[in-house]
Amino acid sequence: MPPSLSHLFLLSTFASLALCSFYCKNPGYPCLNGGTCLYNGECNCTSGFRGFNCGLDSSTISAACTVECHNKGICFNGDKCYCTKDYMGPTCQQAYDFADCNKSSMKIKAYRPTEFNGEIFLMQSMFGCKLTEVTSTIPGYKQYELDVPHDSTGPCKLKKTIDATTGDVHFEVNVSTIHHAGQFGMYDGLKTVSCHYSSRDQAIVKDVTNHELLVSVTTSDGNTQNIQEIQTNDVIHLTFNPVNLPGGYKGVKILDLEMYSVQWNEVNSILLLKDQCMTQKADELGYSVSNEVDGYSGRAILKAIPLFENVQASVYFNYRLRFCRNRCKIKSCPSQSPKPMPMGEIFKHQGQGIRIV
Ligand SMILES: *[C@@H]1O[C@H](CO)[C@@H](O)[C@H](O)[C@H]1NC(C)=O
Ligand SMILES: *[C@@H]1O[C@H](CO)[C@@H](O)[C@H](O)[C@H]1NC(C)=O
Ligand SMILES: *[C@@H]1O[C@H](CO)[C@@H](O)[C@H](O)[C@H]1NC(C)=O
Repeated sequence: MPPSLSHLFLLSTFASLALCSFYCKNPGYPCLNGGTCLYNGECNCTSGFRGFNCGLDSSTISAACTVECHNKGICFNGDKCYCTKDYMGPTCQQAYDFADCNKSSMKIKAYRPTEFNGEIFLMQSMFGCKLTEVTSTIPGYKQYELDVPHDSTGPCKLKKTIDATTGDVHFEVNVSTIHHAGQFGMYDGLKTVSCHYSSRDQAIVKDVTNHELLVSVTTSDGNTQNIQEIQTNDVIHLTFNPVNLPGGYKGVKILDLEMYSVQWNEVNSILLLKDQCMTQKADELGYSVSNEVDGYSGRAILKAIPLFENVQASVYFNYRLRFCRNRCKIKSCPSQSPKPMPMGEIFKHQGQGIRIV
């Protein structure tokens, strides 16, 4: 019985700054605590205060902190975050400009101070691709949105790139802000927002909007018997078989392979293969893994040792595959050097668990 796989992409979204986003001459961007606004739009803070808008009292900066401030926010008073100019929220997790991504579209969103009275639009068209104001989900801010389908061919279309090696898909667009409707000034902003679709777990991504590639994963002993339970030192053959490989792709190889177990809501994880090579960690743990190329299917052979101490739960595999135009080449791996373990990763789907008894 092949394990069932979900077909979600891992999504991430980024916003990077291309032009200034804080300019104290713009309405809604004051210098605080007696700071003065300089000709160049930066604040000159009075002594004892710092930060882009002088909003941080230096004497309150905390070395020890009970909250985690994201995006280079600085902790003060032990549990508060002072955010950099592109982020807001209690722990600075909320960007002012960002994109919500799903499988079919990119929703570009922006928050602005209530005093903001300008316009936000995609750089390619000030008139045709304007973000419209919607009811704000954050009190004290205005909210703007524009939903652009991935396959849009109109003036608002997104820039799409596909990584030929990994199959990762990337959509990107530039968002302009003008603070005084109708005039673009040097103190207006430009940001790049993007959606990145990782092909991890997902095999090759030819087209995000039209993609249904299944990979069946089987765990077997050397005699092709499917196994559900193994003993220490048993050999496990893990086979990845794409069900509907697009034309032109003939080989499959395991790029990354991670073994994990969830017990009492804790994830124990070991990276077995990283960029096709066995990790130092794998070696330290005393088991072997090899990455075989077998034409149409990718195979890993593992030797089961007590993988996670004190863990009775089933073991699952998380993986990333590479699809090759022909038979995949065998990579010569460098001599092993220590590599960090993956941290706190959330697994999007699970292969069939094997119980190690
Ligand atoms: C900033 O303010 C201080 C006084 O608080 C002043 O001496 C200094 O010249 C100011 N800097 C600029 C660049 O205006
Ligand atoms: C997600 O997709 C639907 C169409 O299926 C679209 O209407 C919606 O706006 C999208 N949401 C986001 C956040 O992109
Ligand atoms: C966004 O703007 C930057 C800076 O002008 C430029 O390098 C980049 O190519 C632009 N990206 C898109 C998708 O237009």
